[in-house]
Amino acid sequence: MVKSTSTQVVIVGAGPAGLLLSHLLDLEGIASVLLENRSGEYVLGRIRAGVLESSSVELLEQVGVGDRLRREGFEHRGIYLQWPEERHHIDFVDHVGRPVWIYGQTELTKDLMQAREAAGQRSFYEVDDVTLHDIESERPSVRFVSAEGEPREVVGQVVAGCDGFHGPSRHAIPADLQRTWDHAYPYAWLGVLADVPPSTDDLIYAWHPEGFALHSMRSETVSRLYLQVDPDDDIANWSDDRIWESLAARLGDGQNGWHLQAGPITEKSILPMRSFVATPMRHGRLFLAGDAGHIVPPTGAKGLNLAIADVAVLSGALAALLKDGRSDLADAYSETALRRVWRCTHFSWWMTSMLHAHGDDFDAQLQLAQLRWVARSGAAAAGLAENYAGLPIGY
Ligand code: APR
Ligand code: PHB
Repeated sequence: MVKSTSTQVVIVGAGPAGLLLSHLLDLEGIASVLLENRSGEYVLGRIRAGVLESSSVELLEQVGVGDRLRREGFEHRGIYLQWPEERHHIDFVDHVGRPVWIYGQTELTKDLMQAREAAGQRSFYEVDDVTLHDIESERPSVRFVSAEGEPREVVGQVVAGCDGFHGPSRHAIPADLQRTWDHAYPYAWLGVLADVPPSTDDLIYAWHPEGFALHSMRSETVSRLYLQVDPDDDIANWSDDRIWESLAARLGDGQNGWHLQAGPITEKSILPMRSFVATPMRHGRLFLAGDAGHIVPPTGAKGLNLAIADVAVLSGALAALLKDGRSDLADAYSETALRRVWRCTHFSWWMTSMLHAHGDDFDAQLQLAQLRWVARSGAAAAGLAENYAGLPIGY
C-alpha cells in the first residue's frame, strides 16, 4: 500500500536550486515537499562552487538568507588574469560597478537548510527509487521509497526537478520533445582544498603551457586550488608534492616577488568538464531548474549562480500560476531561463577556451593574444567583468 500525501509543489533535489526554491515558495505562502536521495550530512559535506554574483547575493539578502554570507563571506572587486611573466587585475567594480562574493556552496546550503527547517515544511532525505508521474496533468506526482523503506507518493500541482545532472526529472520529458546539446572538453580539473591561508587577495586565473591553474579560496585559512589535468587522469598519480609543484610552476611562484604558500591538502578530486543544455526547461507541470537542465564548465563560476537565477524566475512564475491562476509567466519560464543559460554557457565556454592548454601552438598564440586584449582593452575587460560579476536576474 503506497502512502499518499499532497502538497502544492513537489521539489526533487535538495541542492542549492531545490532548497532556495523551497524558501522562495514559502515566502509566497506556497507549500512544498522536498525529496533528496542523499543524507543531509552528505549534501552538506560536498565541496562545490564558491563564487556568488552580485545579483545572487542581493536576492539572498532580500529573502532573508544573506546575513551570514554578508558577515562571513568575502567581497572581491575582481580577478587576476595571468600568463607567464604577466599578471593583470580586472577590476569588476571599476568596469561595471559590481563585485563578487566568495562564500562556499556548502555554507549557503547550510543557511538554506536552516531556513527550510524553520519554515516547518516537510523534507524527506535518503529517499530511493524516485519516479515522476502524470506531469502532463494538473495533479502530477512523485513516488519514492522513504529512508524507512516505506513506498510513498506525494501529489502536487507542480513538480520542480532540481535533482542535478544525474537526477530522474529531466528524463521524464518525452525524448521526442526534448533537445539536448552536450559538449565535452578535452580536459578536467583536479581540485584541492588546503589548510593554508590564500596567497592572493583576489582569485588568480593562470594560463600556462603546461595547463591552466586557478587559485581560489574559502576563508582566511582555507585555500581552494585547481589544476588542468587529462580527463582520464587518475588522482592516484597526483601526490600532494606533485600538486604543489605544478601549482607553483603554473601560478608563477617566485615571479615578481610573489610566492605560493603550500600547506596540508584535506581533499582532492578530479572533476570532469562539460557544457550541457536540455530544452525545454518545462513540460506540462514539470519545471527543471539548475544542473537538472544545464551544466557549465567551472571556469566562469556560473553553475551555482545559474541555479539561483533559475529558481528566482521559477518562484515568481509558480506564484502567479498557483496563487493568481495566471499561466503567462509559467508558459514563458523555459524561454526566460534559457536566455541566461545560453549567455552563461557561452561565457563559460569562452573563459574555458581562452585559458586551457591543449597542445596546439597556433591556438596558444591566439589565447595569449586574447588574454592581452582583455587585460589591456577597457572594452574587453568590461565584457568579462559584466559576465563574471553577473547579469541582472531575469536577464
Ligand atoms: N532523487 C532525489 N534527489 C536527487 C536524485 C533523486 N533521484 N538524484 C539527485 N538528487 C539530488 C542530489 O543528491 C543533489 O543534492 O539532487 C540535488 C541536486 O543538487 P546539485 O547537484 O547541487 O544541483 P543544483 O541544486 O542545480 O545546484 C547547481 O551546484 O554543484 C553545483 O556546479 C553546480 O554550482 C552548481 C550548483
Ligand atoms: C571555487 O572557488 O571553487 C571556484 C572559483 C572560481 C571558479 C571555479 C571554482 O571559476
